[in-house]
Amino acid sequence: MPLKLPIYLDHHATTPVDSRVLEAMLPFFAEDFGNPSSQTHSFGWRAEAAVEDARERLARALGAADPREIVFTSGTTESDNLALKGLARAGRRRGDHLVTALTEHPAVLDACRALEAEGFRVTRLPVDAQGLLDPDDVARALTDRTLLVSVMAANSEIGVLQPLEAIGRICRERGVLLHSDAAQAVGKLPLDVRALGVDLLSFCAHKLYGPKGVGALYVRRDRPRVALEPLLHGGGQELGRRPGTLPVPLIVGFARAVEICLAELPVESQRLSNLRDQLWSQLSRELPDLRRNGHPERRLPGNLSVCFEGVEADAILVGLREVALSTGSACASGSGEPSHVLRALGLPDALARSTVRFGIGRANTSEELAWLIQLVRELRARRTRAGPPRHRSASSP
Ligand SMILES: Cc1ncc(COP(=O)(O)O)c(C=O)c1O
Repeated sequence: MPLKLPIYLDHHATTPVDSRVLEAMLPFFAEDFGNPSSQTHSFGWRAEAAVEDARERLARALGAADPREIVFTSGTTESDNLALKGLARAGRRRGDHLVTALTEHPAVLDACRALEAEGFRVTRLPVDAQGLLDPDDVARALTDRTLLVSVMAANSEIGVLQPLEAIGRICRERGVLLHSDAAQAVGKLPLDVRALGVDLLSFCAHKLYGPKGVGALYVRRDRPRVALEPLLHGGGQELGRRPGTLPVPLIVGFARAVEICLAELPVESQRLSNLRDQLWSQLSRELPDLRRNGHPERRLPGNLSVCFEGVEADAILVGLREVALSTGSACASGSGEPSHVLRALGLPDALARSTVRFGIGRANTSEELAWLIQLVRELRARRTRAGPPRHRSASSP
């Protein structure tokens, strides 16, 4: 069967909605369209029942003790902001210090910067050359004024999985709360908030074959009970922690998407790691100078981040225009600066600018990757004929 082009290999950015998820959502757009806060008629009751059912399923999926620990938001960015700002502002009298890592997503790093402007202090810990945080560094950074440690479960650029369980143990011992941005991890790895000792956890639907526009924050209610100051003010939805009418179809789709991922996880994660290993071994055979970023094993099954030394990532993307990929140096701000994650690994700017991220997902096949390798082979042959590559200097804009 001929391949369908273009091939999508950017599953860390977002994923398509699974048809089973869409099917679950459809009745809640036009038939069961009620507002879950409407307590006076069956439209509202049905919507509320659907939301509470989804909340229960999500709580179960994370190993949470109580469905009320799930707060619906618009996505991971909002969940991260609610976790960090909500917790810091609510805890102002107890402390003024937060600890995080240099490789966190901007949703965490920029929320920290905003808190610094309010007078909080933030320690940003370095990672090793493979992208891993040392739990002992976390322990050393804690003070009696530390309110929160925020460490992501899986990195969106290099796929590295942080040692959350060890960090959770340290936080427990020292009586400090732990938040984790798990946007890239939920549905792809088994995660249990109680086993990990995580007190707050951010995630969303669109990274796991659910709809865009919905996310959640897990907030522990017991031992300890975590208090948050809301970011928004309005109706009393979500027990006052996040007011606003709930997007019922998105919430229903979110829960269904997580359930499908978890049911398929053991088989799918093995399949994705096999595809990723196939891609790496064949690419590195074709291009002996290729470097892999991030820890070789402690990483997301579908993630491969590589430096094509001596070639700008943008040029690779042009050469591979039939493949939807992301450069490792993509910068949300448009500043032209190489990625903060790759810099934190100690990569020189030129190498960071040569980095491409492959994000393999549910619909990808071995045939697609074989086709991609063939394309790389042809590109390399063309480059060899054309002479040595021209490289933009690290200081150019
Ligand atoms: C680790 C991580 N955190 C936060 C976000 C932002 O997520 P959202 O698009 O749901 O706001 C992303 C998405 O790229 C991510 O990968």
